[in-house]
Parts: sequence; structure tokens; C-alpha cells
Amino acid sequence: MNIQYRNTFEEVDWNQVSKIFEVNGWGARPPEKVKAAFQKSSFMRFAYIEGQLVGMGRTIDDGVYYAWVVDLAILPEFQGLGIGSTILKELEKDLEPFISTMLTAAPGKSGFYEKLGWIKQSAAYIWPRSEKQKREFTDNC
Ligand SMILES: CC(C)(COP(=O)(O)OP(=O)(O)OC[C@H]1O[C@@H](n2cnc3c(N)ncnc32)[C@H](O)[C@@H]1OP(=O)(O)O)[C@@H](O)C(=O)NCCC(=O)NCCS
Repeated sequence: MNIQYRNTFEEVDWNQVSKIFEVNGWGARPPEKVKAAFQKSSFMRFAYIEGQLVGMGRTIDDGVYYAWVVDLAILPEFQGLGIGSTILKELEKDLEPFISTMLTAAPGKSGFYEKLGWIKQSAAYIWPRSEKQKREFTDNC
């Protein structure tokens, strides 16, 4: 299968990005808001198969010291093909100059990151925005 990875916003179908969030259970994220958010990112990857956007990931950072990987998500029918790990490794390379690279694993995804060499930071905290988030991030495994 020919998978193409691109690191630009050009030709991105924001409706498809929005759909990838939605089908992965992250709720409705309107295309125009998603576009505005992604355009603040220094680094991003979009994965395409036969011209169809099937997954993405991006970073948020302060340009000098601190950086986070966020919004790594693949269409369910294309998960398990190495796309998520390829995007993550490419973003890790982009973030090499920063002194700190972090992410928050979605519930149930810690194993994916640990397999790829990420280590759990026992001192990380999140300010809970909802009861749901409180539950999710205290039961995360
Ligand atoms: C998590 C996610 C990004 C992984 O992407 P992917 O393309 O399916 O993963 P890959 O095919 O690159 O998998 C790499 C390895 O991680 C393993 N892996 C994948 N998901 C895993 C999980 N939840 N727990 C443990 N291992 C996992 C795979 O089995 C694979 O192992 P292998 O190399 O021994 O075969 C993808 O499943 C996804 O989009 N999930 C829904 C959105 C989400 O939760 N994103 C994470 C946000 S923090």
C-alpha cells in the first residue's frame, strides 16, 4: 500500500480532518475551527492513501523550549498499518531541538506510546474540564 506523508496544509481537506476526529470518538470538531487550530502548529503530518487523507498528527510549541505532540489520529480502517507510528517518529525528529517533548495519551493508548519508547511522566497533571475527563484521566492505563 502506497502511503504518502505530507508536512504542509496545502490541499488539506478540513472536512476529512474533522471526520477523522469524529469517527475516533473525539466529538464534533467543526472544519473551520480545526483548520484555525492546525494553522497554529509549527509541525504537522498528513497521511494519504490514493489521495485520501487517512490520518494526521501535529505539534504545539513555544518555538524554543517546550513542545507537545497532539491530535495523532488515524481513520479506524487504516489503523494497524504503521501510519500512527510513522507520523509520531517524524514529529519526534521535528521536535529534536526542544528541551522537552510531551504528550497526553488518550485513554487506552499508553501501550502504543510506550512501545515506541515514550515514558510515563509520573508528575504530569491535567486540570479537569469535565467529570468525563476526570474519570478518563484517572483510570488511564
Ligand atoms: C493510537 C493510534 C494513533 C495508533 O496508530 P496506528 O497507525 O493504528 O498504529 P501503528 O500501526 O503505527 O502501531 C504501531 C504499534 O503500536 C501498537 N499499538 C497500536 N495501538 C496500540 C494500543 N492502543 N496499545 C498498545 N499497542 C498499540 C501496534 O500493535 C503496533 O505494534 P507492532 O509494531 O508490534 O505491530 C491509532 O490507533 C488511532 O488513531 N487511534 C484513535 C485516536 C487516538 O486515540 N489517538 C491517540 C491520541 S493520544
